[in-house]
Amino acid sequence: MTASLLRAVESAGAEVGRHDTLNSESAYQTTALADTSFLPGPVLLLGAPGVGKGTQAQFLVNKYGIPQISTGDLLRGNIASGSQLGIQAQEIMSTGRLVDDNLVNQMVLNRLHEKDTRRGYILDGYPRTLEQAHFLDSTLARLSLAPNLPVVAISIVVAYDQLLKRITGRRVCPICKSIYNVHSNLPTTAGRCDHDGTHLLQRPDDTEDVFIERMKTFNDQTAPVVAHYRNLGRFEEVDGDQPVEAVLADIESALLSLRNNSSLVSATSN
Ligand code: AP5
Repeated sequence: MTASLLRAVESAGAEVGRHDTLNSESAYQTTALADTSFLPGPVLLLGAPGVGKGTQAQFLVNKYGIPQISTGDLLRGNIASGSQLGIQAQEIMSTGRLVDDNLVNQMVLNRLHEKDTRRGYILDGYPRTLEQAHFLDSTLARLSLAPNLPVVAISIVVAYDQLLKRITGRRVCPICKSIYNVHSNLPTTAGRCDHDGTHLLQRPDDTEDVFIERMKTFNDQTAPVVAHYRNLGRFEEVDGDQPVEAVLADIESALLSLRNNSSLVSATSN
């Protein structure tokens, strides 16, 4: 990676992942109402395109008052701002391939140093290659980033046909990042965000052709990451083919159980 590109990552990287929004009124809260009695620590949300990582991350952000760090959102933020990183990422993302590991790793590392990660964070869409996973594992072991808890990984699973329907039906708010769907989660006013009235957009990579490529990329490069965290043992799989609230309940219960187990691991290894 060139020095100028690295500078672009440093200056433009962290802005877009900070929107703490939900598009379900029943669950829409500010982080001021978050449950701070539970220390979530670092949480990985893994899964293929459209399993619901972003949707669930937004609920967890509001529930626990920790940030969502979505590498997809960070990259789209760079595209929107026209940064050098964004120009480079745009072509790659439009084909369903993955952006360079070094670039994404540096972007995440910069974000992890921010103060709002001290109680934990949700990594959404990262790591996506074994190289990224090894970078994350070694970085967290080497740097004493708070909180000093081991990573827990939750993999969401949904059948291929459902994913295609979700991806092609997804609409997003470009301002607050709320996520909608023409099949399952319509806004109150057609085509407008419930929270700020902005015109909803379809992501350029949410076409059937690009979805097919994204799935190939997932199977080739990200499925081994899922296996890596499964083998490490701080891992749970959740059925994402249920109503959003049921998926959330399963994720929360997985998180509580993993955190109890990993707290023990952490306590005994200190
Ligand atoms: P990214 O933005 O991360 O896309 P993705 O991983 O393909 O995931 P999606 O955002 O498509 O889906 P999601 O699981 O978040 O689902 P959502 O909640 O929105 O990455 C885009 C690109 O950036 C990559 O292709 C790559 O080029 C690049 N990139 C990103 N990270 C990278 C990295 N680490 N390394 C290298 N390159 C990277 O839900 C989908 C739809 O389903 C929504 O409409 C929602 O309303 C609906 N829905 C959600 N849950 C349910 C449910 N339970 N029932 C019915 N509908 C539901």
